[in-house]
Amino acid sequence: TDPAIIRNFCIIAHIDHGKSTLADRMLQITGVVDERAARAQYLDRMDIERERGITIKSQAVRMPWTVAADNEQGAEPGTYVLNMIDTPGHVDFTYEVSRSLQACEAAVLLVDAAQGIEAQTLANLYLAMGADLHIIPVLNKIDLPSANVEKYALELANLVGCEVEDVLLTSAKTGLGVEALLNEIVRTTPAPVGDPDAPPRALIFDSVYDTYRGVVTYVRVVDGKLSHRDRIKMMSTGAVHEMLEVGVISPEPVKAGDLGVGEVGYLITGVKDVRQSRVGDTVTSQHNGADEPLGGYEHPNPMVYAGLYPIDGDDYPTLRDALEKLQLNDAALAYEPETSGALGFGFRCGFLGLLHMEITRERLEREFNLELISTAPNVVYHVTLDDGSRIEVTNPSEYPDSKIREVLEPVVTATILSPADYIGTIMELCQTKRGTLLGMDYLSEDRVEMRYTLPMGEIAFDFFDNLKSKTKGYASLNYEFAGEQAGDLVKVDILLQGEPVDAFSAIVHKDAAYSYGVMLAGKLRELIPRQQFEVPIQAAIGSRVIARETIRAIRKDVLAKCYGGDITRKRKLLEKQKEGKKRMKMVGRVEVPQEAFIAALSTT
Ligand code: GTP
Repeated sequence: TDPAIIRNFCIIAHIDHGKSTLADRMLQITGVVDERAARAQYLDRMDIERERGITIKSQAVRMPWTVAADNEQGAEPGTYVLNMIDTPGHVDFTYEVSRSLQACEAAVLLVDAAQGIEAQTLANLYLAMGADLHIIPVLNKIDLPSANVEKYALELANLVGCEVEDVLLTSAKTGLGVEALLNEIVRTTPAPVGDPDAPPRALIFDSVYDTYRGVVTYVRVVDGKLSHRDRIKMMSTGAVHEMLEVGVISPEPVKAGDLGVGEVGYLITGVKDVRQSRVGDTVTSQHNGADEPLGGYEHPNPMVYAGLYPIDGDDYPTLRDALEKLQLNDAALAYEPETSGALGFGFRCGFLGLLHMEITRERLEREFNLELISTAPNVVYHVTLDDGSRIEVTNPSEYPDSKIREVLEPVVTATILSPADYIGTIMELCQTKRGTLLGMDYLSEDRVEMRYTLPMGEIAFDFFDNLKSKTKGYASLNYEFAGEQAGDLVKVDILLQGEPVDAFSAIVHKDAAYSYGVMLAGKLRELIPRQQFEVPIQAAIGSRVIARETIRAIRKDVLAKCYGGDITRKRKLLEKQKEGKKRMKMVGRVEVPQEAFIAALSTT
């Protein structure tokens, strides 16, 4: 294909502003998907994506588009090839967004006409500007009765620095304005430039595991040509793979002989693991390959860790196989086996963020029919000991009890957008979470942008829910990793009869240790049934006890209920009690029902 007629663009937006709906409408209008075959959110292929209505993996589709001779936008008439790259919108997947952007020349910046600019609108716009993309501002959902087109078109124009007349108006739902948008994409998006005679270089912006075909790698060719006859080389590792197939997605895979400058398509090489075909890497040919990769390749590092345990210990092998399978399709998922005194055999898993964690857990439970219990998530700490050695802590139970010189915790730069009425409330919340205000700007008279540095451990848990409820749902949040800072952190252990229960250990700020200890000890007193003897529950930092509760002793005699000599009834009761015992975990001499662990962990 002649690069002069190619237009590569992506759609960026805050969550729920209508990206996937717009993508669907474009597929329909360009005739790639006919009306009958159109199902809602065609591009969101995973069930879980469709159910949650969010996009997790990026997708790329090629659409032919003919610009009519008399089009109002003044685009050059003719037939073009549009490559649309749908990007995920959530903060956890920022890395994927930024790689998708590198594959495009323009970004359609979509803003909900009833909501206005939100935190991820800004974050994505900055990423797109950083990638030097042409920005096409679009106000969507103008069909909504609550749309305020005038106000938000102006807000959007101010943000991108254009005239308010240049903001396009669409309804992805009804299709209004979408043709005009396609023409405008043709008119304003620069055609790709690259050297057709240079050694091939293609950027991987997505890679997906398919049960039948192995790993399908999505690429954007920058220079040269990738042919199905080539053997290809991954530039970050030097690994060489046989090429089995190249093609384009439109909207189902279509084989092609090769992919040239500016083209977007897929490769199949027969590798079985997405980690061998990583997003951000550069593909070249084995012979006469390129020397310089495209841009810096960044390895996605897990930011949040949690232990995952099967509720039924017999499911451990199933969980191991399931994690292995998920990892084939998720290069960012990390895991290693771990044993907990309280929970048995399981895995310590690393995730990009909380949403990534939730999705992974849900997929494990749903697709592999597992029942899981997860420990409270924690971030990664770097601890320097008195002797100068440094350790990385991904599990609170590995946190040293003494001889600590310094602890570094990860911090994020958070951007919060909110109606100005909530400035005080937000400041208060950020203060209790140890935040430092970096700056504040008014986007309009009644809308502010606040920037904070916050410890990641403080926002990883209930911060977002808190922010939403305190601002009646009006505030939006985006954050990015911003390095590490020293923190006054301690490990709080929970002890039953003097025995620490590893699953409940947590690393918290010194000032929050007391309330964490009191909360958990109180909860466990309610959850653990009385035993034959008295059971003290303690929360401690090292050897210093900071909270204490006691479960009083009872004499538990199930037979006491049976008067007379009904021997079968007695036997039944004894059997029932034995059955129950199987689901008990012993902590020292204390029997703890598994439900107590689940209940205590599910709400911390
Ligand atoms: P993520 O994939 O989670 O980032 O969301 P998204 O930006 O892809 O949003 P999506 O397309 O899923 O749309 C969110 C909701 O807005 C859905 O309920 C859509 O039906 C609705 N919606 C999208 N566009 C329009 C529109 O133009 N008008 C109206 N009334 N509703 C729309």
